Amino acid sequence: MTNMQQTGLRKMTIRKASLHAVTAMGLTLVACTSSESALSDAETTVQASELLIPAAATLERVGELLYDPMADSIHPDPRMASMIRLGFQISQDPQTYASEFVGNDLTCGNCHLNAGQRDRALPLLGVAATFPQYRRRDDRLVSLEDRIGGCFKRSMNGTAPPYDHPVMLALDAYLNWLSEGFTMGERPAWLGQNEIAVEARIPIEELDVNGGEELYNLHCAPCHGLDGQGIDLILAKPGPLWGPLSWNDGAGAARIWKLAGYIKHAMPLTAPGTLTDEEAQLISAYVNSHERPEYPDKDSDFPDGTRPADAVYDTLVFATHPLMRASRRQP
Ligand code: HEC
Ligand code: HEC
Repeated sequence: MTNMQQTGLRKMTIRKASLHAVTAMGLTLVACTSSESALSDAETTVQASELLIPAAATLERVGELLYDPMADSIHPDPRMASMIRLGFQISQDPQTYASEFVGNDLTCGNCHLNAGQRDRALPLLGVAATFPQYRRRDDRLVSLEDRIGGCFKRSMNGTAPPYDHPVMLALDAYLNWLSEGFTMGERPAWLGQNEIAVEARIPIEELDVNGGEELYNLHCAPCHGLDGQGIDLILAKPGPLWGPLSWNDGAGAARIWKLAGYIKHAMPLTAPGTLTDEEAQLISAYVNSHERPEYPDKDSDFPDGTRPADAVYDTLVFATHPLMRASRRQP
């Protein structure tokens, strides 16, 4: 057996062992409940808790990794190993390793906590195996590279690295490494979990930005600052939540319900998951009521013409919206 097979197998063994645990739990549950949905919920929880840093982890665990690309012998081909490591380094410090493509002070890891290895904080484990996929925003088939490029253009307010650029290839390598042993085309249960349930969504125009500001000052400002620019906490430094060095208005985080889903499940890092749906939406509205860079290509998004109601760049809605008036009040 070659080294490559051994390494691949070792990682797969870890995951297979976890999957066996899931099956065992599932069987126990079948014995005590007849509900199939209860079974699949339990499976989701077990799987995520086996393979990801738990959603309830607090600030002291921000630097933790379950899969450490800097460890020895992550890959038998040293060139591959160094690209995987470079991808990880880019994700944690793009200003140093990918500066030409970055237009703000955020890192991938600021939003994808624990380098994409944490539950309910936009995890990236297994993501590579879900591409290519159709996305409504683009209205065409998109690749993993398209998606990485999208986060550069929007979340990082920069430009997409060309497909054959070392920055893109290295991120590709890291994300594919995080998907080793996953089945192509299968979507792990922990993806897409940073959402506010449709029935809990409050219409954008009903969100009281002043109420959001009070909640922000109480729950978020201790780490993010009253000015939203982030305080150096030694263990980590949060990125700017608004202003010229934050995500632009075309980013996923510039959508009120989407950001609320992140805030609800990943923040505050003192006690993640403790805010109500309403509190998370009020805070999200306050954060996104501030000025931020403009995404230049927004006119080509959602070519089918149906923009999501919570996209702050939808000027048709927001020109007359209280959120925009709030942003003029507090530039
Ligand atoms: C401002 C926060 C933020 C930053 C910074 C950010 N992302 Fe994202 N990213 C998101 C959000 C939000 C989503 C999910 C959007 C959605 O649900 O449509 C996402 C989705 C993704 C996905 C697809 C995940 C999936 O479940 O399909 C990938 C891959 C990704 N980001 C990679 C990156 C990389 C690489 C970087 C750094 C170059 C980065 N992101 C920086 C917020 C961010
Ligand atoms: C105990 C400190 C702490 C508290 C309290 C806290 N955060 Fe964070 N937050 C962080 C840290 C640290 C990061 C970046 C983590 C990293 O880079 O690993 C972060 C990241 C974020 C991000 C990703 C984008 C960025 O700018 O870094 C958002 C959005 C966010 N927090 C929102 C909030 C909101 C809203 C609240 C209040 C409900 C809140 N946080 C409370 C520490 C905190």
